[in-house]
Amino acid sequence: MTLATADAAGRVSARIVLLKGVGADGFRFYTNYESLKGSQLAAHPRAALCFHWKLLGEQVQVRIEGAVSKVSDAESDAYFATRARGSQIGAWASLQSQPVPDRATFERRIAEFDARFAGASVPRPPHWGGYVVRPDRIEFWYGAMHRWHDRVTYVREGDGWRKGMLYP
Ligand SMILES: Cc1cc2nc3c(=O)[nH]c(=O)nc-3n(C[C@H](O)[C@H](O)[C@H](O)COP(=O)(O)O)c2cc1C
Repeated sequence: MTLATADAAGRVSARIVLLKGVGADGFRFYTNYESLKGSQLAAHPRAALCFHWKLLGEQVQVRIEGAVSKVSDAESDAYFATRARGSQIGAWASLQSQPVPDRATFERRIAEFDARFAGASVPRPPHWGGYVVRPDRIEFWYGAMHRWHDRVTYVREGDGWRKGMLYP
């Protein structure tokens, strides 16, 4: 999914992340808390998500907006433990979104952390974990011929959702 975040000055960034889970409380993804997105979410804890299914019907788009919070350490630990060891080492070695002088520097850090955790399980780095986006607006866009598309919106209202439609 595309994840859009903004900093305190309103500068917006978008990138793809893996939707790792959907629960009653929202949509989960995992990342480095010290990455660009992490620092933006610390300054401005709201995000927009966007999905596109090109081959579904006449195309489908789903847009989600909401407040963002970190998932519990226990939940991040549990997911981190299921990841491949290479990915776990990578989470330690990558200073995500910081400048790196060359590929060799990154590979040296990978080797260093691989050696540090040799013969042991890799703990979750404190700077890595999940976020949950609690939706307050969801839009389903269904493509149609001649661009006569359908747009169905749900806006959170108290304990429920107000359904509406938009011109395409
Ligand atoms: C298909 C795909 C899936 C990705 N999944 C993730 C992810 O789940 N978490 C993540 O941190 N980065 C993921 N990335 C990398 C991000 O797009 C991005 O490069 C990285 O998170 C740094 O973003 P930032 O500098 O805006 O924080 C993925 C990239 C692609 C193309």
